[in-house]
Amino acid sequence: MPVVDDKVVLRHLVSMEYLSEEEVVGLISRGISLKNGRASQSLDKQTFIANLFFENSTRTHKSFEVAEKKLGLDVIDFHVETSSVNKGETLYDTVLTLDALGVEICVIRHSEVDYYKQLIESSTISASIVNGGDGSGQHPSQSLLDLMTIYEEFGRFEGVKVCIAGDLTHSRVAKSNMQILKRLGAQLYFSGPEQWYSKEFDSYGQHVAIDDVIEELDVLMLLRVQHERHDGNGTFSKETYYRQFGLTKERYECLKSSAIIMHPAPVNRDVEIADSLVEADKSRIVKQMTNGVFVRMAILEAIIAGRQER
Ligand code: CP
Repeated sequence: MPVVDDKVVLRHLVSMEYLSEEEVVGLISRGISLKNGRASQSLDKQTFIANLFFENSTRTHKSFEVAEKKLGLDVIDFHVETSSVNKGETLYDTVLTLDALGVEICVIRHSEVDYYKQLIESSTISASIVNGGDGSGQHPSQSLLDLMTIYEEFGRFEGVKVCIAGDLTHSRVAKSNMQILKRLGAQLYFSGPEQWYSKEFDSYGQHVAIDDVIEELDVLMLLRVQHERHDGNGTFSKETYYRQFGLTKERYECLKSSAIIMHPAPVNRDVEIADSLVEADKSRIVKQMTNGVFVRMAILEAIIAGRQER
């Protein structure tokens, strides 16, 4: 699929399921153009944006903030711990309030899956919602930066062999990526502990032992072990997990010379991947973080364009 610099127009960005293939390709293409120095769209009026992070974040929160500042948006400080959330205010009432103050875009990370549905279905709230991750549901901006990274490497998605490996059931990264990668024609495998695999993945790819496919992969996409979402279901010692499912130096040597390693980060070093491999030649983990700024600029431009068309 050729990438073209199409202008994308969005009302919200909440799930990869709601994006067409053309919109995905347009956003990636715009992210690449911005990275290559293309000027961002100029704003025709003051635009307020707030980042509401109810779960911890470094990459998503800070790269949205950098993207917002590069675009000239007015970023409103919002800290959950000093807000009226601590007096029991709900997410809905928090967004209703910011909307009433004139905030036009809210980037939100929250532990509740599908938290955004109530916000985008509200007849009162007019702010656009950008999902920065909903529990183990979706993480669309991460998925778009992952796709941008794969496209920069291979120039296509069709036929690219991708293995998503690790804590699948708890991963919004896996769920966002599996759907869109299949739609774009990639060949998908899943690997990792059986207890962190569920039937919902069957329609998108094959569950395999990492050692059975490692030599033929183009992309090994490792996932973080999400201890905070485990109810004691399938706990492993770090060493056991690393040896059975992680990227050891021995497995790294089995990868093709053209293969790449991805990880959304934060990385548990010596658990999902050997400490020394995080910045190895085949690793694109740092590049993913850099790409996050540009793809998030593209997302925000598309949202601003969508608001101008209303
Ligand atoms: N990849 C990712 O979402 O990282 P953060 O949790 O630091 O935002």
